[in-house]
Amino acid sequence: MASRSWRPIPFLLLISGVLMLIASCRPDQDELEVSEGMYPLTIPPGFPDMPIPAGNELTYERVALGRKLFFDPILSADSTVSCGSCHRPHLAFADDRVVSTGVADRPGFRNAPSLANIGYHPYFLREGGVPTLEQQVAVPVQEYHEFDTSFPEIIERLLTRPDYIEASQQAYGRDPDVFVVTRALGAFQRTLISGSSPWDRFYYQGDLLAVSQKAIQGWQVFCEKGCTHCHSGFDFTDYSFQNIGLYLDYPDPGRWRLTGLDADIGRFKVPSLRNVDITAPYMHDGSLTSLDEVLDHFASGGQAHPNRSPQVVPITWMPGEREAIKAFLRSLTDDAFLTNPDFIDGNGL
Ligand code: HEC
Ligand code: HEC
Repeated sequence: MASRSWRPIPFLLLISGVLMLIASCRPDQDELEVSEGMYPLTIPPGFPDMPIPAGNELTYERVALGRKLFFDPILSADSTVSCGSCHRPHLAFADDRVVSTGVADRPGFRNAPSLANIGYHPYFLREGGVPTLEQQVAVPVQEYHEFDTSFPEIIERLLTRPDYIEASQQAYGRDPDVFVVTRALGAFQRTLISGSSPWDRFYYQGDLLAVSQKAIQGWQVFCEKGCTHCHSGFDFTDYSFQNIGLYLDYPDPGRWRLTGLDADIGRFKVPSLRNVDITAPYMHDGSLTSLDEVLDHFASGGQAHPNRSPQVVPITWMPGEREAIKAFLRSLTDDAFLTNPDFIDGNGL
């Protein structure tokens, strides 16, 4: 069961004050003037429209400011770590370390997830405790293992920088403040859409030669073995919270942190599988190092945790099925996304 060092409430208390602060921030005018430069969000075939919150419509200026902030270590206590240090563009905005390290090389306790298609998530973090991308910014800012700083400190720094004052005025018609920082980072992250992998070209765009026969067979196996119970839809996740029997005794109790309910111990948000070939290590704690280890886990049916999903059952692979599933998963790697110059800051992170 959940280890005694975890308590559900402090986590919420930690961020709830700041969340309220952000929620109470309103634009100065009732309606912000939308600049000429609306950012053209390209929705790939097969994807739904992305929900964009009123008041933070995407413009070039907002997205550009968000990108500048995303890659700027100015947000961290000792100016050494940026969002991009843990969410790295060429790794699909994930990280190749088991757990990411923040300021002063402090190790966190979770593996950094990919931010591909993050604008579609209905809630954030692996227990789903944060409702919007704007509010999520408060987490790394305050987290001891990430930036370990505060909004007042960050705003003070930004106000000494003419380039930020100008960019902020252009984007939101006001000087840098919590409203601007959280909105701009939200705007930039909504542009991180991955929908042009070989599998997309095959499945949604009708290019029958975009993937191998093996990958197509792998998709069939993926469906037959019940993976699509959870990894369904255009983003290969239904965003539900599931216990897949990774442990009998979860050191990190997952959604229990939020709800305190025993039924939520070991339940984590189902991750997207887009670009999964390059987002190792896997799972909330980075404990599985390769796709083979993940397939071994699902084949075993996992540990008999009382909350384990009934959909996770032992699997017997027929010859070639494992290789086929891997070929399918690899066809989800979207090279255009990984190398998109619009997603990379000038300093080449
Ligand atoms: C020190 C490494 C680190 C830094 C710096 C960092 N993150 Fe993260 N990020 C993580 C980890 C680890 C998680 C998973 C945390 C969890 O689930 O509790 C995460 C989760 C997220 C999520 C939620 C993803 C999901 O699937 O729900 C978003 C969005 C995000 N980060 C954006 C940002 C932004 C924006 C910044 C900069 C303001 C940032 N991160 C800075 C490591 C980092
Ligand atoms: C009951 C729902 C469910 C089913 C069925 C399921 N998964 Fe998952 N899958 C999850 C959850 C939840 C996680 C993340 C667990 C964690 O973070 O500890 C996950 C993680 C993964 C990961 C690692 C992704 C990452 O970025 O860490 C891969 C790969 C994966 N699943 C593939 C599969 C395959 C292949 C199948 C079918 C054999 C399958 N899953 C069946 C819920 C499911």
